[in-house]
Amino acid sequence: MTVRAGAASFFAHGHSLEEVRSELTKARATDTTWKHRRNLRASYFAGDDVVAIATEAFTACLGQNALYGAVAYPSLRQFEAEVIEILLALFRAPAKATGSITTGGTESIFMAVKTARDWARSERPAVTTPTLVVGRTAHAAFDKAAHLLGLEVRRMATSPNFRADVDGMAAAIDRNTIMIVGSAPPYAYGVVDPLPEIAELATRHGLWMHVDACVGGMVLPFIRDLGHPLPTFDFTLPGVTSVSIDLHKYGYAFHGCSALLLRSEAMSAYQRYEFDAWPVGRYSTTNFAGSRNGGPVASAWAVMRYLGHAGYQALVAKMLEAKAGLIAGIRRIDALEVIGHPDGTLLSFGSPSLSIEAVAGEMNRRAWTFARQTDPPGILLLLNGFHGEIVADFLDDLEATVGAVKAGRVQATAGPAVYTGSNRKRRSATGA
Ligand SMILES: Cc1ncc(COP(=O)(O)O)c(C=O)c1O
Repeated sequence: MTVRAGAASFFAHGHSLEEVRSELTKARATDTTWKHRRNLRASYFAGDDVVAIATEAFTACLGQNALYGAVAYPSLRQFEAEVIEILLALFRAPAKATGSITTGGTESIFMAVKTARDWARSERPAVTTPTLVVGRTAHAAFDKAAHLLGLEVRRMATSPNFRADVDGMAAAIDRNTIMIVGSAPPYAYGVVDPLPEIAELATRHGLWMHVDACVGGMVLPFIRDLGHPLPTFDFTLPGVTSVSIDLHKYGYAFHGCSALLLRSEAMSAYQRYEFDAWPVGRYSTTNFAGSRNGGPVASAWAVMRYLGHAGYQALVAKMLEAKAGLIAGIRRIDALEVIGHPDGTLLSFGSPSLSIEAVAGEMNRRAWTFARQTDPPGILLLLNGFHGEIVADFLDDLEATVGAVKAGRVQATAGPAVYTGSNRKRRSATGA
């Protein structure tokens, strides 16, 4: 066996604090500044005061393991319970509803699929190959969960008006279908799916319906309360069985915090995993993860206490104003078009005539950061409450960029759209 050279490279002694600090700074030198106003990728910034209280709560609990909440950290149990209560109220859940905290949107979705699978094993024993029916834009986490849990996915090929294809979904349902998914909204396009129609299909066919409100869960209730028209997205739709809501997005918690809500406490039996055939006692969790840092949920709880309903609503109002400004400005620029009618706090735009890769490349060169989408090629802007400050600058740069692309003056293109990229090749922070 050839021993990997790297195995010998672990330094015999540690480095001084100054050295480690300086290496840390050096390693981060080319990172995007997450709360920079020109970051429109996924910068859930709600103000320095919000970051301060989130940091305080996170730091206070960062050594505490939420896995042991029941036996050692009653504060974490309290934070989890209170955060879940607030989310159940925002999503107008029935009295018997329940919920749990997870480490992120992917884990919430994974646990929703696992819970639906085990529910179907009990309630739909004739199913041979449990299958999920999802819209074209449903998050990749549904396929990942299905892959890991042994389910099949029927993903729609099209999205009429950039929303889930309800007719296609209806046609895809067969005796093996156990679950149907709607997004509120999906990351691509930001247009909420026709959830009442999907819920109706769920009720008609006895399916588990999951609403993926990972990105929209902490904004849609406030948009609704501000009086803007939205399709119903919560538990008042009788077909909705579960909902995922990320606190580490528009809840302004630090990463590692999401929630899965279930219509009834009885369903959490299908979520829970229990085991005690080992020598350290009963293992019982509703998570995929075992150990979980206490910091993220503490930060979610602290921000909720600090902002309250009015604080979240005020931030949402600012985002809607910025969104309206951006949409109006983009529509004024010849050759660009806004994709669909974005309902939440993200929007995308593309061009029927220009290369979006070229537009994106030039906008990146002008120090704007954003996500992209394919089909149609587009630039995806995810807003926070401070992006109102950059609407004018963004539109000026965009107009100039479009002019340059039309005139063939743009060399660098942004290349194909990627969501995460590959994390396979990692450069060492120290250059080793
Ligand atoms: C609609 C939607 N669902 C799920 C996810 C996955 O969330 P996470 O990255 O926290 O796993 C995202 C992430 O952006 C999302 O936008």
